[in-house]
Order: sequence, then C-alpha cells, then structure tokens
Amino acid sequence: MNLSSLLSFFAKKDQSVLGIDIGSSAVKVVQIKKKRGKIVLETYGELALGPYAGIEVGRATNLTPEKSAEALRDILREAKTTTVSAGVALPLSSSLISFITIPQVQDKQLADVISLEARKYIPVPMNEVMLDWSLVPREDSFSTDEENKISANTKEPVGSSQDVLVVAIHNEYINNYQIIMDSSQVKTSFYELEIFSSIRAVIDQGIQAVMIIDMGARTTKLYIVERGVLRSSHIINKGAQDITLALSKSLSISVAEAENMKRLHGLKGGPEYKELTEIITVNLDYVFYEANATLLNYQKKYNKDVSKIILTGGGVLLKGFVDLAKISFQTEVVYANPFAKLETPAFLAEQFSQAGPEFAVAIGVALRRLSELE
Ligand SMILES: Nc1ncnc2c1ncn2[C@@H]1O[C@H](COP(=O)(O)OP(=O)(O)OP(=O)(O)O)[C@@H](O)[C@H]1O
Ligand SMILES: [Mg+2]
Repeated sequence: MNLSSLLSFFAKKDQSVLGIDIGSSAVKVVQIKKKRGKIVLETYGELALGPYAGIEVGRATNLTPEKSAEALRDILREAKTTTVSAGVALPLSSSLISFITIPQVQDKQLADVISLEARKYIPVPMNEVMLDWSLVPREDSFSTDEENKISANTKEPVGSSQDVLVVAIHNEYINNYQIIMDSSQVKTSFYELEIFSSIRAVIDQGIQAVMIIDMGARTTKLYIVERGVLRSSHIINKGAQDITLALSKSLSISVAEAENMKRLHGLKGGPEYKELTEIITVNLDYVFYEANATLLNYQKKYNKDVSKIILTGGGVLLKGFVDLAKISFQTEVVYANPFAKLETPAFLAEQFSQAGPEFAVAIGVALRRLSELE
C-alpha cells in the first residue's frame, strides 16, 4: 500500500455518514462514524413537516420535492451535520412487496426468472419500476433438528423451489427523492426501503420470529422478521394522526390542542381525562386487533410463535402505549432502542432510549451506509 492509498484508507475509515428518513409527518437525520472499532453517534435531529404544508405538527403531509428539500436542508443545518454522504430510506408506501416462489435455477438465470415471475404480481409496466430482490433462506437451512423432522414430512424436497422476496419501487419515487437530495447537496449512496432499515436497527441475533410495529403519522406498518429476514409485511391504514383527529372532533378542540393533549397525557391522564383515555383506547384497540390478526395468520401459516413485539415510530411514544399493547398481545412487548447500537454519552442514556423508536429507520439506513466503507 503506497502512502496516498494509505491516507485515503484512513480517510475512508474515519468518514462520517448520514442516515435520512423522510416520514409523512417528520424528517429524521442521524450522523455516525466509526472510531476505534466503535460506531459513534455524532449528531441527530428531527423536524415536523406539518408547518411546511401549512398544517399542524404531527400530521401527515404530501409535500412537493421542493418543500421536502427545504425541510431537509433546515434539519441538516439545525443538527449541524458535517458530511453529505448518505443512505436514504424510502417509505413502504412507495413500494410493492411480494413473496414469490420460483423453481430452483442456476444463479445466472435467477434475475430473468424472478423478473418474469414478478410481472404476475406487479400491476404496473416493468419499465416503470425498480426491481430488487433477495432469496429467502430455506427453512431447513436454519431450523433446529426438531423442526427439521417436521419440515421433512410436510415440505417439498430440498432443491425443488426457492422463495424470493421481491421489492418493486416506482421510478417516480426515486426521481422525486433524487430531486430532494440534489437540491440539498446530499450525496446518496443508495435508497433503501424503510423496512430493511428498521430491521437492521432493532433486531438482534435470535432465532425466533418477532414482529416490528412502526406507528407513524399516516399508517401503522407491521413486519414479521425471522432470523433477520423479512417474512411478512402489512400496512394498517390508521396512524398516530388519526388519534389526534378523533380527539379534535370528539372533544371539539383544535387539532393543535388535541395533539398537545395526546402527547402530554396519553393514556395516563387519570379520571379527569376519562374521555381522552377512551378515545385513544378505541383507536389503539383497532390497530392492535389488526396486528393480532396478522400475528395469528403468520403463526397458523408457518406453525410458529412470534416471541416478541418491538415498537417503533413516533406513535408508540404515547404514554401508556406499551401497557395496553402488553394486554392486547399477551406476549413480550418492548420499545426499540436503536441507539444501543451506537456509542452515546452515558448521561444521556435516558433521552436516547426515549427517542429510540422514532429514529429506528434513520439509524438503520446510516448503519448500512457506514458498513459500505468497510
Ligand atoms: N410523545 C408522543 N405521544 C404520542 N404521540 C406522539 C408522540 N410523539 C410523536 N407522536 C406521534 O407520532 C407521529 C409521528 O411519528 P413518526 O415520526 O414515526 O411518523 P412518520 O415517520 O412521519 O410517519 P409515517 O411513518 O406514517 O410516514 C405523529 O402523528 C405524532 O402525533
Ligand atoms: Mg416513519
């Protein structure tokens, strides 16, 4: 290694990277770097998008790329980020996910076979989407002996078929994001669907299936993950803003007041806030009912229990959310703590564990960008 390549080697190792998550109601950024083998959090920040659309904080927006870029520039400035090198998350709604089964073919034929099969599931012309895929590891390649015995009796013989996770993202989304990043001077290394960012940020090594619940402003997203691999995803058309809008309507208060009240008291307002508690409970019950149905479906289909539920997204920060979730799910329910994957100042530990659920996507996408430098 000559001197210049040695220098660029160290420059690369020391490089800071950004993770960017533009949600429907808020944009989140984190900046991290590798230092002496550890991943260090340099800065992070979040900004509500409502005001850029002339609506309240906490509500979902449909911003033009120009407006989104304005917000992104603002938060990068506010957080005092010092790099432009980024990984960027794309919303789940930009994509179509399908699990397809193809015959076992040779590697060089894979792309063709998958693209041909995927056509059947994707309702738009193939030249309008970007296609990405990954092979789902075979059950028996990672199951225990006990499971093997069962699968040997019930599954097709090894080598006859292959499950593939196919993600199609509409080109229009990519183009819009390109405009946002270009006009914010951000250099995007890749775009990644937010699911995969979340999984990277919150899942630890473990063999059992877990469900991630991401309660955003517009929707609630459910992902079932086994051994780090996505096995099922589902969107519920109810998010945290719907609780605010329901409160505003039922209590005849402004949306801004409703949002404040929701964040201040949540389910912990006591007898004085009986109505508030009731309205929130009704809305969350709907979400939990749907999530339970997804869980049961999965358990029935694969004959496997989901051992844990991990909460992400701003909506789960509602006071008392986790207690109600524990009653509804009858299984272990925990808050995501993606900051635990980073070196952070110990005296801020409490603050980080509270912000964790909101930053899962931004941290996950930054971690991938960082791993590209290795
Ligand atoms: N402390 C809190 N208590 C209750 N709700 C909260 C709290 N903090 C944030 N929220 C709610 O969380 C929502 C924002 O969550 P998040 O930032 O995960 O959404 P998003 O990523 O912008 O949306 P989406 O994922 O749907 O695109 C808002 O609707 C807000 O009302
Ligand atoms: Mg989100």
